[in-house]
Amino acid sequence: MNVLVTGGAGYIGSHTVVQLLNQGHSVIIVDNLVNAHPNVLERIERITGKSPMFYDYDLCDERSLDEVFSVHSPDAIIHFAGLKAVGESVEQPLRYYHNNLTSTLTLLRVMQRHSVKNIVFSSSATVYGDPDTLPITEAAPLKATNPYGQTKLMIETMLMDIAKTADWHIISLRYFNPVGAHQSGLIGEDPSGTPNNLLPYVSQVAIGKREKLSVFGNDYNTPDGTGIRDYIHVVDLADAHLAALSHIKDTTTYRAINIGTGKGTSVLELIDSFQAASSKEIPYDILPRRAGDIASCYADVALAKDELGWEAKYSIDEACEDSWRWQSQNPNGYSE
Ligand code: NAD
Ligand code: WQD
Repeated sequence: MNVLVTGGAGYIGSHTVVQLLNQGHSVIIVDNLVNAHPNVLERIERITGKSPMFYDYDLCDERSLDEVFSVHSPDAIIHFAGLKAVGESVEQPLRYYHNNLTSTLTLLRVMQRHSVKNIVFSSSATVYGDPDTLPITEAAPLKATNPYGQTKLMIETMLMDIAKTADWHIISLRYFNPVGAHQSGLIGEDPSGTPNNLLPYVSQVAIGKREKLSVFGNDYNTPDGTGIRDYIHVVDLADAHLAALSHIKDTTTYRAINIGTGKGTSVLELIDSFQAASSKEIPYDILPRRAGDIASCYADVALAKDELGWEAKYSIDEACEDSWRWQSQNPNGYSE
């Protein structure tokens, strides 16, 4: 397939591009590098021996996107591009609504104009808000608790309506907590500034960039009192996109599918796993709960297995080993 990957220079996008190239697909990346480093492209080439086409365009720029479609005639789109920091979305809601919604609307209009109607969209477990029951199935009520989550819900709603019209094939993958890095140690997560997410923060403590971790709350109703999440290895997540692409023509109605491991890991368990992987001590303080956090979140993964024939292969220990290889071989991320 000829696959156009929006946001393909980002964390999940770059890992997916590697898997696509390794499976013999051709790849066109559109990414304005608002949250990615240009060096990732050379790393992708080192891993795969192939180079994807790359366009440094903003997806909101309809004319440029139209030109990419005219030149490359993609068969399918994987749509990763978007802003993703929850806290930032509360501070800058207009920027989030504008970027995430306008880019998606522009993409969908250009797709329609070129009769390209196959798309896999990056949704998120954030659309479940604070779940009533665990594990979370796709039938759980949808509710967003911040502007970032609202953009995911709004896009899913649009896609649901569009999927009812002729010839569209649309799959939204609802990712749980992506972690880990490619086993080569050449690509991984490279957050700018202070990491918001747990694993990149732990990893920066291990490499000595940050003094200690703040554990946000140990009074949750969980076995050790700390928050439980479903951490999914980014290479497993990348493979889920290939599985979605190969099943996309089977979908005649809108499909939203959880992508997780089905297992929960607490903050303290993740610290233990990272300590074992890195042979470094991770000092931490217990702080009060972080606003907006929930106690537990993990996926029911039956639908992914039934519909896509996909399930996670890698454990949290392997994810920590791969994250540590990436962090220790690239202490400054992609910057040299
Ligand atoms: P990322 O920030 O590393 O990648 C997103 C990419 O999109 C970046 O490279 C950025 O430069 C690009 N981009 C943003 N706006 C753009 C625009 N208007 N035009 C062109 N390029 C643009 O994030 P990620 O972690 O790889 O996430 C990928 C997708 O998955 C996002 O949609 C995110 O919301 C979603 N998601 C991420 C997580 C997570 O925890 N990482 C969890 C669930 C869902
Ligand atoms: C995990 C656990 C924290 C940092 C976020 C988004 C979600 C999705 C994935 C995009 C929680 C605890 C964290 C720290 C800590 N993104 N923690 N100290 O909040 O589950 O999900 O990323 O769609 O929408 O909300 O992930 O990695 O921030 O937190 O104790 O320094 O680690 O309280 O229990 P979260 P996270």
